[in-house]
Amino acid sequence: MAQIDIRPFQEADQSSVVALWTAVFGYAAAHNDPLEIIRHKLALQRELFFVALHEGIIVGTVMGGYDGHRGWIYSLAVSPSVRRQGIGAALMNHVEQELERLGSPKINLQVVASNSAVVDFYKKLGYATEERISMGKILRPSS
Ligand SMILES: CC(C)(COP(=O)(O)OP(=O)(O)OC[C@H]1O[C@@H](n2cnc3c(N)ncnc32)[C@H](O)[C@@H]1OP(=O)(O)O)[C@@H](O)C(=O)NCCC(=O)NCCS
Repeated sequence: MAQIDIRPFQEADQSSVVALWTAVFGYAAAHNDPLEIIRHKLALQRELFFVALHEGIIVGTVMGGYDGHRGWIYSLAVSPSVRRQGIGAALMNHVEQELERLGSPKINLQVVASNSAVVDFYKKLGYATEERISMGKILRPSS
C-alpha cells in the first residue's frame, strides 16, 4: 500500500488534476472539459471532491455527489505509475464514508462499456453489476 494522504481538492490543485484527468481519461466530449467539471464541482458539494497525494504529488482523484436519494461517484482516477498499490481503493473508501455520513443509503456509479476492465476493481470493493439501461441527455453545451 502506497503512503498517501487524501484531502479535499484545493484551488491550487487544479493544473495537476487537469493533467491527471487528461492523461487518464483523454476527454473528447465538450461537456467533459476538465476545467468546467472542476468549476461546477466547486460550486456544488465541493467537499465531496478529493485528491490523493503521494510524496506531495497528486496521484489520484475521486468525486462524489449526494442528491438526497443516492450517492454517485465520478472521476475516479489514479496515475498509471502508482496503480495497484491500493490508492484507488483508498479513494473509494474515503468518498463512500463521506456519502454514508451524509445519509446516502446506496451508491451508484457508471462504467463506460469500453472500460469493462475496471469492473473487477469495483467488484472487489463490493459493487455489483445491476441490470439497468443507462440514459443521459445533455441540457446545455459546455460554456
Ligand atoms: C480503476 C483505478 C482507479 C484503480 O486504481 P488502483 O489504485 O490501481 O486500484 P487499487 O490498487 O486500489 O486496486 C484494488 C484492487 O482492485 C483490483 N483491480 C485494480 N485494478 C484492476 C484492473 N485493471 N483489473 C482487474 N482488477 C483490478 C485488484 O484486485 C486490486 O487489488 P490487487 O492489486 O491487490 O490485486 C485505476 O486503474 C484507474 O485510474 N483507471 C483509469 C480510470 C478509470 O477507469 N476510472 C474509473 C472510471 S468508472
